[in-house]
Order: sequence, then structure tokens, then C-alpha cells
Amino acid sequence: MRKTFDFSRGWRYKVAFSEEMLGEDYDDSSFESVDLPHTNKELPFNYFDDRDYQFISCYRKKLDIKKVGDRTVLINFEGIMTYAELFVNGMPAGKKAGGYTDFLCDITGFLHDGENVLAVKVDSRERPDIPPFGGVIDYLTYGGIYREAQLIYVSGAARITDLFCRAEVSDKCVLKVDVKLENADGATVSAAVYDGGRLLRRASVKAENGKALISIAELEVERWDINNPKLYKIRVKAGQDNVSTRFGFREISFTEKGFFLNGRQIKLRGLNRHQSYAYAGYAMPKNAQVLDADILKKELALNVVRTSHYPQSRHFLDRCDEIGLLVVSEIPGWQHIGDAAWKDLAVQNVADMVIRDRNRPSVILWSIRINESDDDHDFYTRTNELCRQLDPTRPTTGVRWRPDSESLEDVHGMNDFMPAEDELCIRPQKLLTGLSYEKPYLVTEYMGHMFPTKIYDNEERLVKHALRHAEIVDAIAGDADKAGGIGWCAFDYNTHREFGTNDKICYHGVCDMFRNPKYAAYVYASQADAAEKLVMEPATIWAFGEKNIGGVAPLVVFSNCDYILLKVEGQETVKILPDRERFPNLPHPPFILYEMRGFWGETWKDAILEGYVAGGIAAEKRLLCSPLPDKLELILSNTEIPVNDVVRIAARATDAAGSTMKFLHDTLHIYVKGAKLVGPSEVVLQGGVYAFYVRSTKKATVSVVVSSGRFKENKVSFNVV
Ligand code: GAL
Repeated sequence: MRKTFDFSRGWRYKVAFSEEMLGEDYDDSSFESVDLPHTNKELPFNYFDDRDYQFISCYRKKLDIKKVGDRTVLINFEGIMTYAELFVNGMPAGKKAGGYTDFLCDITGFLHDGENVLAVKVDSRERPDIPPFGGVIDYLTYGGIYREAQLIYVSGAARITDLFCRAEVSDKCVLKVDVKLENADGATVSAAVYDGGRLLRRASVKAENGKALISIAELEVERWDINNPKLYKIRVKAGQDNVSTRFGFREISFTEKGFFLNGRQIKLRGLNRHQSYAYAGYAMPKNAQVLDADILKKELALNVVRTSHYPQSRHFLDRCDEIGLLVVSEIPGWQHIGDAAWKDLAVQNVADMVIRDRNRPSVILWSIRINESDDDHDFYTRTNELCRQLDPTRPTTGVRWRPDSESLEDVHGMNDFMPAEDELCIRPQKLLTGLSYEKPYLVTEYMGHMFPTKIYDNEERLVKHALRHAEIVDAIAGDADKAGGIGWCAFDYNTHREFGTNDKICYHGVCDMFRNPKYAAYVYASQADAAEKLVMEPATIWAFGEKNIGGVAPLVVFSNCDYILLKVEGQETVKILPDRERFPNLPHPPFILYEMRGFWGETWKDAILEGYVAGGIAAEKRLLCSPLPDKLELILSNTEIPVNDVVRIAARATDAAGSTMKFLHDTLHIYVKGAKLVGPSEVVLQGGVYAFYVRSTKKATVSVVVSSGRFKENKVSFNVV
């Protein structure tokens, strides 16, 4: 029998470290009580010292075990940044260098019946001996035990240590399950496939030399696809142990013509994601991770995400599996390659990432070069070979920015940064690979530092930022030599002094750090099928005085409607069509009205935009020429969450027509009863919007009140169950 318990609650934490803290009898009553995920230091939104979280700290927790017996006891930490040593009852039980994959430790031998003490020394400094460190990097890694932990009991001698599923996909699929085991030679190992609770088929073999390969043939199953992310459960048993994983049956291939899923070509359209959040750093529980995946797939209509630049949370990837968002998963690193021992760790990171995530249908590519590093033939031959050996079912890729770099991977990954002014927005692959032939090729980044843009920048800049995204996505969609493009990036992020604005933020997202959309987000969102999600977002504040020289034109609207009517009071109705001339390849090009009547100081009027689909009116939006604050809208992500999770609450100041009051930078006061607010309780609207997370600590009905001088108090509530 295997029993897994969440081990995330009730830790003791100290922002300091001394060796005696690791002892069994150490008095930790002066420690703080914390739950995991935990960030070692809450940072302000911006303007902080990026060395503030780089220190050694200590976490302790008691573990009561009535009788250890002959069970195996394991503890798993899903992510500790950056280096950790675990002590059990004062004895060293294991260590882990690197913060992005599991630290699994067998602690059986250190336990005794009754009360045991676990202590973790956590070194969150940027240690040059551990990837991604050694040079400067354009992101923060924060610190602490920033993901969840589990305690696992396994009865009996046999133990399953790994399972890897792969399938030959046809009308009757064959599933192969590679099982790794300990103390199980001669024992029967069985694998079963379930559709929900229904058993489809089962097969078994005898374990030999710590291994078992089980084949299950004649499986009639649905394909996992981005539109139908059908998941099955695979359950493996050996002796008293059992382990389950989810799996999806699907076929992928990359050719020089592009990417194919189940035989169908799909142009990859995506954004890069950092797993960081304002205030909380990396330490966000399940629901925040789930919501990010949902934003990418459901709000921004993307089909792929790159987990730049490291393996990301299990919850994020689980959600990608569930909703059909494809994933390019990457090892930790940023431009710098260290010495031999550093490279060994990077190679270990490849193994840890692939072994952790190779049963996931959403993962289509392993990115196994250090992002944007120079060539290193031997090193990258090693990472490629290991990756192909651990997972022959997926291609490798590697991300570079230099042209003519050695292409050892199956798919050539290229960050193609062209200045926003340049007419050419994306380059032909041969020009960048330096090869005489075409190979599978993916644009892994574009935009980013070419055009940083804040959510509260002026309209001209925000629109230019958005249109540049549109131009690039359009160009990639039209280029047969590219499997697709993944832009830089989804969300603004905190960074080091060497990169962002001097406030420690890279404003490179199509959304801000709180996941609120800039206009560029609607370039992506509007590519959705109108039947699934209708989008009509005017990229304007509808004023004569916002742009240089005055006037509203060009008026840009991001929409998936067929056409739009603009009705300005006292003027003739204008029909606007998607600009297919400028954007011939986008499913839904922006609508641009290049000329309009009206100028600075002239009489200014309200307008109505009507969006039409299949001849009928599908969307309507009023634009007010003299808007006044009307409402503070609060949108709650969930009405029910478990203990130790979060809800996201998005706040938006609107006028009477529901448009965002972009320049209303009023203060918001947030009062939370029954749970914990992540971040400060007094904040300002940025670009008329804000969002915050509330973390549940106990079962309760939680009420959240937001007040601001200009608006009525606004209240939402949710249940913690
Ligand atoms: C790339 C890098 C990213 C980010 C981006 C900004 O060179 O891979 O991590 O720094 O630039 O545009």
C-alpha cells in the first residue's frame, strides 16, 4: 500500500540560520508558523534590492509516527530554491542542488517511533555552482520551500520508483509502460488503463533486474488533442505498492514543414511564461498555477507555452494536460555555462525534468540547451543523448539567439529579436541556422526587450506594442519554414538591476504582473474562434488629446467579428473590416480605421462600436467622450477553494459604459476576513486595474471588501472547504 499525504502545512520558519537549528532538541518557539508554498521573503512590487531574498534560512517540522514498522517513509519537496539539506532527528538525510525539480528523500532509516523532527537548511543565494547561476540572469529566482511537499508511506518491500508510459497510436493502440522498481525481482507487476473509473484493460509481467516492461495492446481510446484533451489513468501495482499517472494518447511530429498533432498541422502560437508573481515570488499554490494556464489557453487563445527558463509547477502542467495547452519544457539556465561540475548538474536537470514530466501529453518538446548560451559541442551532445535515451518519444530543442549556432537538436529553437521599427519582423530560418537546408524550426522568443510597454503607458505606445505582436504572429503564420512562434512574454516579471526598468521589473508581458491584459493581449485573444469566445476590444481611450498631434485615428480594434460598425454621434456610420492587406495570415486581423474626422479641441462625441458575426450583431461597446468613474468591478476566480490555496480577485475601475478608466490611479483598501491577503492591503490601480490573491488558511466563509474614495465599497466572498 502507498499512501501520500500533503506535508505542506504547519512548518516553522526562521529568516536566519545556524547549525544548531538542525538539531532534534532545538527550541524553535521563536520561529514563525508558515505553510508551503512559502517565499523566504515577501518583496515589494518594485523598487527593492534584488539581493534581499538571497540568504540561508531554516524550516522545521515535527513528524509523529506511532510505529514506523517495516514501511518505507519518503518525503518529497517539489521545489526548494536553491540548495537544500534535509536533517531528520539531527542526522543528515539528503541534499539537493537546484530549485526546480523534486527533492525526494527516503528518510526511513532516520526515523524512530513517536515524535521526529525534520529540519531543512535552505540556501537561497545565487550560487555560481548551481544552474542557472554563475552569470547575470534576467529574472529572479526568489527563495524558500516555494512549492508543496508530500509525505509518502509504502508498505512491504517492493517499491515502484518510476513509470514511463508511451503509446503506439493507431485504431488499436498499444501502451507500453516501463516500470522501475526496488526489491521487487520476481514479483508480479501489473498495469491497468482506466477511463475515469472504468477499467479498460490490464496486463502483467514479472519484475526482473529492477525493471518491468508491460505492454497493453488493443486499446480503443480517444486521442488527446488541444480541442479534446482526453486523459486516461494508468495504474501500476507491484507487491503492496501502487503508483498512478495520467496519460494521453496522441501522436506528434516536427518536420521542416511544421508541427503535427495526430496528423493535423497546427501552427504553434504561444507565449513564454515565468512562474513568478508580485509579492509572492515563486510561492503560489495550485489555483494560481491553474489560473495562469487558463489565462493562456482560454483568455489568450494560445495553443502553446514555453516554460522559460525552467521546469514549472506540477499544477501548471497538470492544467496544461487537462485543457490541451501544449508545452515546451526547459532546463534551468540563462546564457551562462559553468564548469564541469555545473554541467553535470545541468545534465542532471535534464534527467529530473524528463523523468518528472514524460507522461504528460501536453509536453511536446524538451528544451535542453541553456537558454541563449554559446555552442558547446560536448555538453550539448550529452544533453541531447541523455534526453533521447530517457524519452525517445519527443524531440529535443535548444534555444539560441546567435545565428549559425550548431544545431544538435531535432528542432532548431531561435529567439528572433528584430527592432520594432524594422520592416522585417522575423527572419527566414536559413539565414539564422546557417544551414543549406531547412529543418524543423521554432521561433522561441520575439518582442520582449525590443519594445517594453507598461499597462499604464500612453495609448500610442500600447497600440504600437500590440500591432508589432500582430505583425510578428502574422508573419510566422505565413512562413512555411516555421512550426510557430512563442513570444516574449505572457506576464511582466521582477528581474535584476541589469535588465528591466530601474524598478526591477521587465515590462515585457502582454499582461502585467497581476495578469491584467495590455492591448497586446487582445491580439492573441482575438484569434479565438468567435463561436467559442467573442472578442471586440477597442485599443483606444477615445480622446482627442492622448496621441501626438491629436486625433483618434488610427483607431484599432482587436476582434474576431466579421466586421464592425462605428457610429459616432452626428457622423455617418463607418464600416470597418479586418485589415487583411496588412495581416494576410492571421485568422482574425486587427481592424484599423486609418483616417477619422475630428481633431484636438473640436467638439467630441460618444460612439458605439457594433461587431457583427454571420450577419447578426454579436458585440456592442459604447465609447464615452467624457467618462466618469462609475464602478469598481471585482471579479473573483473561484467561489470555493480548499484550505491552503488561493483565489484571484481582479479589480477594474470602469465608466458607465464598462470601459476601463485607464488613468484612474486611485488607492484601493483591501480588507480580508477569514483568510490571508497576499501582498499589501493598500495599493493603487495601475492602468485602471489591479489584481490580488487571497490565500486560505482554514475552513471559512471569506469576505473581501475593497474600498476606494471614488467608489462604493465593494464586497465579494468565497468558501474555503
Ligand atoms: C531573451 C531571454 C529572455 C528575456 C528576453 C527579453 O534574450 O531569453 O529570458 O530576457 O530576452 O526580451
